[in-house]
Amino acid sequence: MSEKKRVLTGITTSGIPHIGNLAGAILPAIKASKDELTDSFLFLADYHSLIKNNDPDLTYTSSFEIAACWVACGLDPKEVIFYRQSDVPHIMELTWILGCLTSKGLMNRAHAYKAAVFENEKNDPDKGITMGLFNYPVLMAADILMFNADVVPVGQDQKQHVEMTRDIALRFNHHYGEVFTIPDVSIEEDAGVLPGTDGRKMSKSYQNVIPIFLKKDDLRKRIMKIKTDSKEPGEPKEINESSIFSIYRAFASDNQTKNLANQYQEGIAWGEAKELLFELLEEKINPFRKNYEELIKDRSGLEKILLLGAQKALDVSTPIIIKVRQAVGIREFGD
Ligand code: TRP
Repeated sequence: MSEKKRVLTGITTSGIPHIGNLAGAILPAIKASKDELTDSFLFLADYHSLIKNNDPDLTYTSSFEIAACWVACGLDPKEVIFYRQSDVPHIMELTWILGCLTSKGLMNRAHAYKAAVFENEKNDPDKGITMGLFNYPVLMAADILMFNADVVPVGQDQKQHVEMTRDIALRFNHHYGEVFTIPDVSIEEDAGVLPGTDGRKMSKSYQNVIPIFLKKDDLRKRIMKIKTDSKEPGEPKEINESSIFSIYRAFASDNQTKNLANQYQEGIAWGEAKELLFELLEEKINPFRKNYEELIKDRSGLEKILLLGAQKALDVSTPIIIKVRQAVGIREFGD
């Protein structure tokens, strides 16, 4: 592997992605992965998904669908190291080693854990809290340090985990000698947060999402359901309060956006605005949908892609885990 900067990020494999994820995370990450000056590591965090659910069918299906989704939307496995976390067992090994050096007090401060305890406040503070949730930041540190990543692009909600990773890596290096790169966090702006069909933030928990791979007719129906105010055709309309406009802008060129803003001024009917949004989305999504339908017909084809990615990942992790084992004193007996 070259001296290029290593950029690494993980995708938790739960839930099927919607167009908010597409505009805010998937397309920007795919674009960034084409940067020639970096080596890009992108992985399916399938062991993280067990923190959120214990349903084997859901775990399997989400992992497959999300892998297919990323490839369908243009991720080129030749340009990135694209792998499943579970195909790199070194990560699990490192999780244990790091856990034995991580103070419990640091984990007590993790947001996800604290939020779960807070919910419980009046009852038993440990109710429903698994060791998986408690150890989540250590697993994430292992994901990152296993490849000596230089930069970790994440959303604001994950910043603390990368800071904890830095703490853990510094502590390891201080105690056992320099093994790990101290990673920098790169925070992605929230530009990708789109409103859903009810005007609130597009989110699975509000059931207001537009999934990426709806069939054409269903996509149209979903768009026609977007809530608007009751302004009549001919009345000027406000772009800032319009979900239709926000979603349109996220996928349109500057010119298209300007045109739609003018039409709002001129009093476009809501039905017409929805039709324009549908046409734009259909044009963008159609090629992705076609790819997706091909990919899900050929599970073993996708498996092959991931196994090639795993091999590339293992080529990077193997020398590092050997160094780690040496450093902590787990090594062959001999002179
Ligand atoms: N926890 C991250 C999330 O929920 C996903 C993730 C897992 C990740 N391991 C990672 C992100 C390592 C960056 C680096 O979004």
